[in-house]
Amino acid sequence: MAAHPPNAPARLHALIPAAGTGSRAGTAQPKQYEPLAGRALVLHTLEALGGVSRLASILVVVSSGDSLMPRGAGWQVAACGGDTRAASVGNGLAELQARGAGEDDWVLVHDAARCLVTPAQVDRLIDECLADEVGGLLAVPLADTLKAAQDGRATQTLPREGKWLAQTPQMFRLGVLRRALAQAGAGVTDEASAIEALGLRPRLVAGSAQNFKVTWPEDFALAQAVLESRKR
Ligand code: CTP
Ligand code: MG
Repeated sequence: MAAHPPNAPARLHALIPAAGTGSRAGTAQPKQYEPLAGRALVLHTLEALGGVSRLASILVVVSSGDSLMPRGAGWQVAACGGDTRAASVGNGLAELQARGAGEDDWVLVHDAARCLVTPAQVDRLIDECLADEVGGLLAVPLADTLKAAQDGRATQTLPREGKWLAQTPQMFRLGVLRRALAQAGAGVTDEASAIEALGLRPRLVAGSAQNFKVTWPEDFALAQAVLESRKR
């Protein structure tokens, strides 16, 4: 990536955390490398992002010993993964900056494991956030009834009005996001919660239930079925 002159317009970069082990998926290798509809899961993620013309660069964060991440012309790989997703993203932001990204550039952080995202969904996020003060994320309103539980029994039904499920990409300015994550610490599971902790309010942009995160063993078959249905 070329160095970014101080007064140049902000660019957009995708940052893909792919340094997890996928412990809940129960696969022998990290889930992002499991074959899905003929190739590694993460390649579907990268193909979708490759279809977003406004992205100036795509950087994938893998763990230091990783030998499985495919190389390709459309993305770069940095072996700077951390112990948590937040650490991987924080390290990836530092790496993006070292490679020439500016403080005011937008970064779209997207889970490698969300391989069903589409260019149209990412474009909608960009359209709605580009002129926003804060930035935002793809999310879907809660469809099911929400229960609080204790010892496997429902104790209370929580109002689902005004509740959303956070997805990715999540789009924020690089400098603000770096500071937000540094302050929030390792516990946050998405970028928006770090931004919220600064007192800012990320914009919620309607995503799709199909943009789910491959997490559990049964998710692979569902993701494969969706990918194959799109080919037909
Ligand atoms: N991730 C990462 N670095 C970590 C942990 C997670 O880059 N230390 C990435 C994963 O590779 C994934 C995304 O963050 O693409 C979302 O995390 P998650 O779905 O929780 O993946 P894993 O942490 O790998 O899975 P699990 O929690 O089941 O172990
Ligand atoms: Mg995890």
